[in-house]
Amino acid sequence: MLIYEQLKKDHQLIKKLLNQLVALNDDDQEQRNRLVAQISDELIPHARAEESVLYNSLRMLDMAKDMAMHGYKEHMEAEGYLRALQAQSKLVGDWKKTAIKLKESLEHHIEEEEGKIFSMSRQLFTQQEAEMMCEAFMELKPKSRDQGMMKNTMDLVANLMPPRFTSSLRTPPPN
Ligand SMILES: [Fe+2]
Ligand SMILES: [Fe+2]
Repeated sequence: MLIYEQLKKDHQLIKKLLNQLVALNDDDQEQRNRLVAQISDELIPHARAEESVLYNSLRMLDMAKDMAMHGYKEHMEAEGYLRALQAQSKLVGDWKKTAIKLKESLEHHIEEEEGKIFSMSRQLFTQQEAEMMCEAFMELKPKSRDQGMMKNTMDLVANLMPPRFTSSLRTPPPN
């Protein structure tokens, strides 16, 4: 499988959970907390593994560098809304506004990713590389669970180095 198909599957699930979340009533508090936790469990490992594998591979290539950085920033923005939503878990009222912002922010990001980022990647990486990235993504995703959210620009910087996957994609590992 190519990485694009795997990422799309995750995106479908995240979009479905977001739709369920914004459809809830104020008094469905238990259900809301459950959904917010589920969205976090899906989104965070996806984002961390996607950054390690796809974004880090892209940002090593001059023509894709800015696009990868833009993607990182959108991850940080969405995670800000998710954190706000977690903090609002016991309140009624304003959570819905935050949930809608989270949904809009992620829908926008997913659209850009599946559009611009995937089509640029398809030009830059071979089929075989896209398969290797898929394997690496699947392996990293469960391990990325403890890495948690990107809370500030320091986390962004930490995620940017070292490019954990790119070197193994384009250069043979040392003997
Ligand atoms: Fe994604
Ligand atoms: Fe993403």
